[in-house]
Amino acid sequence: MTERPAGDQSPRPASLKQWKARLQWFNSTLPRNSKLTSGKTWNQPQAGEWKQFRIYRWNPDDGLNPRLDTYWIERKSCGPMVLDALIKIKNEIDPTLTFRRSCREGICGSCSMNIAGTNTLACLKAIDDVRGIVKIYPLPHMSVVKDLVPDMTNFTPSCSPSNRG
Ligand code: FES
Repeated sequence: MTERPAGDQSPRPASLKQWKARLQWFNSTLPRNSKLTSGKTWNQPQAGEWKQFRIYRWNPDDGLNPRLDTYWIERKSCGPMVLDALIKIKNEIDPTLTFRRSCREGICGSCSMNIAGTNTLACLKAIDDVRGIVKIYPLPHMSVVKDLVPDMTNFTPSCSPSNRG
């Protein structure tokens, strides 16, 4: 196994420089077919207020590496939540974008994903709470089925009432 960067042995890096070094180390230890490539930019901002979304894309059927696609959305034409933006992208820009959602009110948990570095619910995360680019990834530490959809097969049984102490 590859060693961590020199001077970075604690579980939590102490400085931004150490975070960057660890991220670089982490990326260099990924298998070649797991490394993120730069994706497609789907539309460009025009007049008005636009927000940029960078979204993790991966399709197990095309044999390509995962990528980060860029989407621009006119702020006025979209609802307030990140889930509104994802639905708008899917309906109007790129129908191949895949994610789960159901209740749209923070109950079912199906829209769980990593937004701007935090694991959260897309239906409860306001777009305006994210400064700059809205980066969206599937939940970490779980296998990805496609795009933002994690594989919940091993998650649900361990969280079921019969498995709680
Ligand atoms: S859609 Fe149900 S929690 Fe977000």
